[in-house]
Amino acid sequence: MTYDLRLTTKLCTKEELSLFEHISTAARGLNMHSYLIGGFVRDKILGRPTKDVDVVCDGDGIALAHAVAALLPHKPQVNFFKTFGTAQFRHHGFDVEFVGARKESYTSDSRKPQVEPGTIEDDQLRRDFTINALAISLNEADYGKLIDPFGGIADLENKIIRTPLDPDITFSDDPLRMMRAIRFGNQLGFTIVDSVFDAIKRNKERIRIISQERITDELNKIMATPKPSVGLDLLYKSGLLKEFFPQVVALAGVEIIEGKGHKDNFYHTLQVVDNAAAKSDDLWLRWAALLHDIAKPATKRYEEGHGWTFHGHEVVGERMVPKIFKQLKLPLNEHMKYVAKLVALHLRPISLTKEDITDSAMRRLLFDAGEQLEDLMILCESDITSKNKAKVKRYLENFELVKERLKAVEESDRIRNWQPPIDGEEIMKLFNLQPSREVGVLKTAIREAILDGIIPNNYEAAYKLLLEKAGELNLKPVNT
Ligand code: CTP
Repeated sequence: MTYDLRLTTKLCTKEELSLFEHISTAARGLNMHSYLIGGFVRDKILGRPTKDVDVVCDGDGIALAHAVAALLPHKPQVNFFKTFGTAQFRHHGFDVEFVGARKESYTSDSRKPQVEPGTIEDDQLRRDFTINALAISLNEADYGKLIDPFGGIADLENKIIRTPLDPDITFSDDPLRMMRAIRFGNQLGFTIVDSVFDAIKRNKERIRIISQERITDELNKIMATPKPSVGLDLLYKSGLLKEFFPQVVALAGVEIIEGKGHKDNFYHTLQVVDNAAAKSDDLWLRWAALLHDIAKPATKRYEEGHGWTFHGHEVVGERMVPKIFKQLKLPLNEHMKYVAKLVALHLRPISLTKEDITDSAMRRLLFDAGEQLEDLMILCESDITSKNKAKVKRYLENFELVKERLKAVEESDRIRNWQPPIDGEEIMKLFNLQPSREVGVLKTAIREAILDGIIPNNYEAAYKLLLEKAGELNLKPVNT
């Protein structure tokens, strides 16, 4: 196949083509050459949606951006960064970025490049992967011609991730590229060539000079792919994962005592993440899957005659979530609380598959899971990963029964998103109390009695119980 691209309407929209004409005209006016480069070219050839246009020129990128903006009808505002020589504006929903072609060299302990002007080929050589180093000329003499000095097209066709330079240099220039190699491999379904993967193994420690935010951004892109296990496993095998997320690496491996082994919780976890990803696009549900067993190494015990246990791993795991979110610079907000809650509850639905489960146990789960019940059920179903097909089938069937019973209990009791009929405010007023332990005790007593089905879910019954419990604490209602 030839890729002598003539920027036809087959590849580009009318708006894009018109923008490229303007870039070409502006560059000519400034006596420069200009090229489309990077992810835009890659994605156009792959037929993936594109949202950013990167332009490189053999001159001042900031001057070119201003000249192009002046030619556009809506005269976009140009943002520029003098230190980096880059400029950017928005155009028809696109981020259009300009930069002068550069030669870059980095010092060993910093990401700050020493930049000198260079040719288009110098610039391509300094990019991360051959598939990201493709350029398209916007110059009059060969407008639309693909410039591919490093075999990027062949690598796109063969689905290969390779660096234009010796990978040790490419990765030492910017160690984040090790994460990017794995992320692109996972996103595009490409294979990282052995020499590049070996270089990642060699250079893994250099990832420490990269900010956690940028590392986590790449990790989240891996988590958002249809099969995150592919990228996560490569992060593990390359040694990168251990550098920034040792807790998840600690899940790996099998210990055997008295001939009894436990499953490899790392690979089990990856399977659970994939299962959840197949059922939902929600990033945080995938995070809950990644962290659901995170406390298994910390709670692992061998009980003689019985085997391996991980008692309380859901509770310890819940407590580990905020620390991990902080360490990975993930948001410490409702997403974190959601993940912690799912980790805490992940064993509950499956425990309801046993026989003789009462309605009150069902009610309790409905109350505890609330809004997150559907997601919890997805997590729990994803957690069934036994290799024994008959066992999986039996589990899933029992699980369906639990779902039906939960539905029935919810329909009769409306317990999800439910609040007990008497709240803390009312208790404080009634007994003239300040916020205190007693208020908590009384509130909990009412809630528990209703959830256990000891009293009906109404005000009168709750009030009666409240007086009884308050009496036990020597409290008397005021004004009665
Ligand atoms: N690039 C690079 N090294 C990096 C980051 C980027 O060489 N660490 C170059 C690549 O040529 C890349 C281009 O800059 O194609 C644009 O980078 P970016 O927007 O981060 O990535 P895209 O390739 O556009 O892909 P995505 O948007 O999926 O990140």
